[in-house]
Amino acid sequence: MRKNIVAGNWKMNNDLAQTNALIADLKNQEQTSNAEVMVAPTFTNLHQSFNALKDSKVEVIAQNMHFAENGAYTGEVSASMLKSVGVETVILGHSERRAYFNETDELLTKKVDAALANNIRVIFCFGEELADRKSNNHETVVKSQITNALFHLEASALQNIVLAYEPVWAIGTGETASPEQAQDMHKYIRQTLANKYDEKTANGISILYGGSVKPTNAKEIFSKPDVDGGLIGGAALKAEDFYAIVNAF
Ligand code: 13P
Repeated sequence: MRKNIVAGNWKMNNDLAQTNALIADLKNQEQTSNAEVMVAPTFTNLHQSFNALKDSKVEVIAQNMHFAENGAYTGEVSASMLKSVGVETVILGHSERRAYFNETDELLTKKVDAALANNIRVIFCFGEELADRKSNNHETVVKSQITNALFHLEASALQNIVLAYEPVWAIGTGETASPEQAQDMHKYIRQTLANKYDEKTANGISILYGGSVKPTNAKEIFSKPDVDGGLIGGAALKAEDFYAIVNAF
């Protein structure tokens, strides 16, 4: 059975003091759902966040990593460095990384391989832009993003992959994909996985939706059969809102 997951992507928000304050607020929240809960602080706050949350049910994950083990890559962070501060899951392929840091499918393939080689679980993000949806190319775009970065993997490796469908037009815009649009795409993704691998593999993969998920819309989105949770941006920066989403299952 695939898992329900709610992950908060804090992006480039919160210095150390603000991170500590948010974690203190998170620890005051009650979880009533069965979802796996994760938060992704910025690199500088990973170590502290891991220590502060290690006795809780909240997993601390990273927002990005480099594919190389170490070396002359100024400003970058490797898989083994993440592991050394307790991180076991990394977000890769976020549309902000693709758009502002020129991350291509080819680069992401290397990052995915490096993470898996280091036993780090990957939350792999992808999603179409508004123009793709308007021209009815959204499925083609998503299929190629997944195919290019993941379909070289064996079926067994997919156990360590979580997919996150984040339509670019819905990120930080307040505009959410409708629950039906999310379900249609998630179903399409699962079918694409079944065609490439098999039904069992496809049914075992958690597919998260991301893009303006809020306490007010989470329940309806999560009620869809192929939506296994959410990757949450803005609403993850307030503990009450985040747990309202966690508990929307
Ligand atoms: P918002 O929830 O702020 O739209 O961000 C979604 C996102 O990009 C999560 O990775």
